[in-house]
Amino acid sequence: MESSHLENIIQGIPKAELHLHIEGSFEPELMFEIAKRNKIALKYDSIESLKKAYNFNNLQEFLDIYYAGAQVLIHEQDFFDLTWAYLKKVSSQNVVHVEVFFDPQTHTERGIAFEVVINGIYKALEKAKKELNISYKLIMSYLRHLSEEEAFKTLESSIPFKHWIDGIGLDSSELGNPPSKFARIFEASAKQGYKVVAHAGEEGPVEYIWEALDLLRVIRIDHGNRCLDDDKLVHRLVEEQIPLTLCPLSNLELKVIEKMEDHPVAEMLDKGILATIHSDDPAYFGGYMNENYYAPAKALNLTKNQLMQLAINGFKASWLGDEDKEKHISKVRSYFETVSL
Ligand code: HPA
Ligand code: ZN
Repeated sequence: MESSHLENIIQGIPKAELHLHIEGSFEPELMFEIAKRNKIALKYDSIESLKKAYNFNNLQEFLDIYYAGAQVLIHEQDFFDLTWAYLKKVSSQNVVHVEVFFDPQTHTERGIAFEVVINGIYKALEKAKKELNISYKLIMSYLRHLSEEEAFKTLESSIPFKHWIDGIGLDSSELGNPPSKFARIFEASAKQGYKVVAHAGEEGPVEYIWEALDLLRVIRIDHGNRCLDDDKLVHRLVEEQIPLTLCPLSNLELKVIEKMEDHPVAEMLDKGILATIHSDDPAYFGGYMNENYYAPAKALNLTKNQLMQLAINGFKASWLGDEDKEKHISKVRSYFETVSL
């Protein structure tokens, strides 16, 4: 199929991906290949029947399938292949900087050593830096459906690899697992020098966003869709320019929104919120960065200026140094001088 004018424009934008779960980039084809070489039986007998199961009514239905898929990852090579496949794919979409989440507990719970997981991911990130010219940061996420004690064990395991890890995240089942449950582990993590972010206000209420800010002291909110329920919170997000990492296709697939026309990104930009666009779990939600820009751009008729703002915000919200941020942002600006929408 020929790509549209809008798709071509989006392809050309230099982009930063800041909300990506590496386990969520596990494409069915690679999953079957790794399952075969590790002699692990999957619940589904074909790629087609697995893909048919990708039909979610909420976050938990997705998580059940996402954790099941990750069970075939055993060896360092598996984690390397997973990460490398993602990086090659996004490089082809002109993504030049990534900040990648990994969920160590999904693997350590099954007896896979922390170092096996991180070695594989790290080696692929380093290869991408050299061969694909993609810069990166790595974010270790705690699973919020597990206990505080489990999170402390994970923090402990991460210490020998501290120099490879830039930040800490909080993901998995949001409802019933408020940020307050993790106040102490976030404090301990920050003391280790990690930056901190958390998923909040995806399915959970606006109070969870307040808690993430006030109790966890996060510097970025992942999702945060629900902030529009609270004017005072919007004011705070604008005032402090706290970024929200939005994931439009994820929101649609997990029924956070009913249709793309309802996506809050345009309203957030209008209000001055530092909104950014990412893919979350691209292998499960039907698209990588280009597709996540395209869907709201089309549904909401985003203007050229709004698209440019989103791309600039991606770099602003990143953990790159000021000089690198400026370099990328000026490339985004020059690019938009060459296109008309
Ligand atoms: N929300 C919470 N946990 C997750 C997600 C998400 O969107 N993706 C992977 N783990
Ligand atoms: Zn996420």
